[in-house]
Amino acid sequence: MQGFSDERPFEDRLQLLPSPLGPAELLKDPGFGKVFTDHMVTIRWTKDRGWHDAEVTARAPVTLDPAAAVLHYGQEIFEGLKAYNLSDGSIALFRAEQNARRFQQSAARMAMPDLPEAVFLQAVDELVKIDSAWIPKADGSLYLRPFMFATEAFLGVRPSHEYLFMLIASSVGSYFKGGEKPVTVWLSDRYTRAAEGGTGAAKCGGNYAASLLAQAEAMEHGCDQVVFLDAAEHRWVEELGGMNVFVVMNDGSLVTPPLSGTILPGITRDAIITLARKDGRTVREERYSMDQWRADAASGKLKEAFACGTAAVVASIGKIKSSKGDIVIADGNTGPITAAIKAKLVGIQRGDIADEFGWVRRIG
Ligand SMILES: Cc1ncc(COP(=O)(O)O)c(C=O)c1O
Repeated sequence: MQGFSDERPFEDRLQLLPSPLGPAELLKDPGFGKVFTDHMVTIRWTKDRGWHDAEVTARAPVTLDPAAAVLHYGQEIFEGLKAYNLSDGSIALFRAEQNARRFQQSAARMAMPDLPEAVFLQAVDELVKIDSAWIPKADGSLYLRPFMFATEAFLGVRPSHEYLFMLIASSVGSYFKGGEKPVTVWLSDRYTRAAEGGTGAAKCGGNYAASLLAQAEAMEHGCDQVVFLDAAEHRWVEELGGMNVFVVMNDGSLVTPPLSGTILPGITRDAIITLARKDGRTVREERYSMDQWRADAASGKLKEAFACGTAAVVASIGKIKSSKGDIVIADGNTGPITAAIKAKLVGIQRGDIADEFGWVRRIG
């Protein structure tokens, strides 16, 4: 592997292309996914050479052959993780090795090469260090977007023989426009996201492309995200377009759909299950139907609902809108269990609460 084994200091390997405004100005109100840092990582893979030419360079457009397989057959995967400025002045990543592993699982499902975990993590560390000025100080974070796509110029339908791995970073604040307010979600009874045997458990671009029409419908109805039901019976709650989902019952237990192969195995979902069980709370990973959700909300058995994922961490769900009428969850405000779970997770991520699970890795 070239590039990362290169002992030269970063500065000698880079052509710096500073942003015209620079971090200070852009970090005032970064929103989500609009403000990008100065650098990127690229690593190439070819069938003959494997992974090679790893580089950290100035962020710049990518040149692709118009026949590049990704443009035709969508062979692409990605990840999303965050780096935080901690109150003690260090920079930390949350469970980055889990993202590296999920990236490998997504690659396997999409017939793409396996990027070693150590290379994934080194790419992340190097980019975070060189672009550390772009990590917002207070509530925000640096959202890291690793991705890989098929670059071979070939129109036959088979796995590509060439790929490009890239890593870019974006300074982010709140994921939802409304900030901490409970979100409203749209129940899609028309479109599904993933079927058994398909790619639902992989983080591939195609899953998101397939979800966009439902997302547009959600936005037309004034909703923030879509709740997808299973593809076979249109009955069981699966996940949101970009987040996993939990409901909180009146006995304090949590229910979340199981990892059936059609939903993304969320790292935040896993962290919440671990934290809740450690606190003595019952967490059931079991199928939960939309009819049950409606009935439980009406009877008062269901007290709270929330969505979770790297981008928004935990977002309380206040209301579900659907063609069959709306479901308001309790009084529509964030419930105490959702708030406590969020506070604990955010506290660990930011180094303010002891990390008993070894989830937080300081890198500088
Ligand atoms: C479809 C989908 N489900 C769930 C999640 C949550 O996963 P994680 O907690 O690993 O970010 C995401 C976001 O990555 C997602 O895109």
